Amino acid sequence: MTKSSRLSGFYQKSIPERRQTLADWASLSAADLAALDGGLALDQADQMVENAVGLFALPLGLGVNLLVNGQDYLAPMVVEEPSVVAAVSNAARLARLGGGFTAGSSEPVMIGQVQLLDVPDPTAAAAAIRAAEPELAARIDPLFPTIRRLGGGFCGLEVRQLDQTPAGPMLIVHLLLDCRDAMGANAVNTLAEQVAPLLASLSGGRVGLRILSNLTDRRLAWATCRIPASAFGDQDDPSGAAVVRGIAEANAFAWADPYRAATHNKGIMNGIDPLAIATGNDWRALEAGAHAYAARSGQYRALTEWQTETDADGQLTLAGRLELPLAVGIVGGATRVHPLAQVALKILAVASARELAEVMAAVGLAQNLGALRALASEGIQHGHMALHARQIALAAGVPADQVEQIAAQLIAEGQIRLERARELATLKP
Ligand code: MEV
Repeated sequence: MTKSSRLSGFYQKSIPERRQTLADWASLSAADLAALDGGLALDQADQMVENAVGLFALPLGLGVNLLVNGQDYLAPMVVEEPSVVAAVSNAARLARLGGGFTAGSSEPVMIGQVQLLDVPDPTAAAAAIRAAEPELAARIDPLFPTIRRLGGGFCGLEVRQLDQTPAGPMLIVHLLLDCRDAMGANAVNTLAEQVAPLLASLSGGRVGLRILSNLTDRRLAWATCRIPASAFGDQDDPSGAAVVRGIAEANAFAWADPYRAATHNKGIMNGIDPLAIATGNDWRALEAGAHAYAARSGQYRALTEWQTETDADGQLTLAGRLELPLAVGIVGGATRVHPLAQVALKILAVASARELAEVMAAVGLAQNLGALRALASEGIQHGHMALHARQIALAAGVPADQVEQIAAQLIAEGQIRLERARELATLKP
């Protein structure tokens, strides 16, 4: 049976109803469902970080309607910000009208950097290191039997000469490792540390740092979509032409202006980070990679492209593309340790780290589309109000069964304030 992630009205269901739908959709067990209450035990937390004293819970929402490469996905998203899950679900619904997202990725190749200093002849050293690649490969291969069995492993090196740094010239060696389904930080750092002495002797220099690069520009993922402009139509403009033009103009703004690009790209990461957190991936690494990639031309720019196109049949279409480094894993690290990360991966049902990266790229593009659509039409605050009012009501101590009603009244009065919420609930300040 083919399953659709197009879950109309999912947000209107109660939490038990949503859980039941999810359990049926993703064939979750009773233990999986129980993990949705938090998953992590204190003694597991104690194994994960030092000086553990507790657990910190965040909401886990479900991004719905996602169609990527013809496959339906539900996106488990751990996030504190209201509107993120709603916006991505709504944008994914619009993208379905154009056949959903098409996504792809490069091989999962990570970069380990070795810094060599006091190299007497950098040009000769670079040549010697390049010539020694087969010898290096012979030393490296036995270090990674599992990765090699799965089709990955050492796949080359690059030597870069940094002639002018505040500490003088240095030679940087990039060791490339195909990490398959692992994020690979440990493997790459091991590789860099193991190989550094040989690189030092080949170069006649001294070893400095040995660490992975988070600018994983060998490990990219991308997503595209094409949506008929009419999907954005409303009563005032049924063609949707004004909104799609606004989206293209918004993208142009973020292409040209780093101040806007930072906010634009933050909106993309609003979709990607929650998926990374839910699946136990290192979202700081993703942030670092995304922003460094956004600045690769020398100017920090939008990670997306959005333009309007007129198809052969005269139909106005919005075309979007996102490409960014996405070094994520589905094995190892917190992905394996955190019970809820395991459930998140079960919900996503991805067969590889590349597939996870492709879904993430689609979610990032959808999230950006959701933000730009709102910004180019009614503005961002409109959609935020209901959730914001609910949060204010909760913060004011309004009992759960009155939150909806009091939030609606706060909006109607145009007074979304703690004191007013307290008054309405006749609570003492
Ligand atoms: C808010 O978290 C994200 C946005 O600011 C993104 C954007 O401006 O594109 C709405």
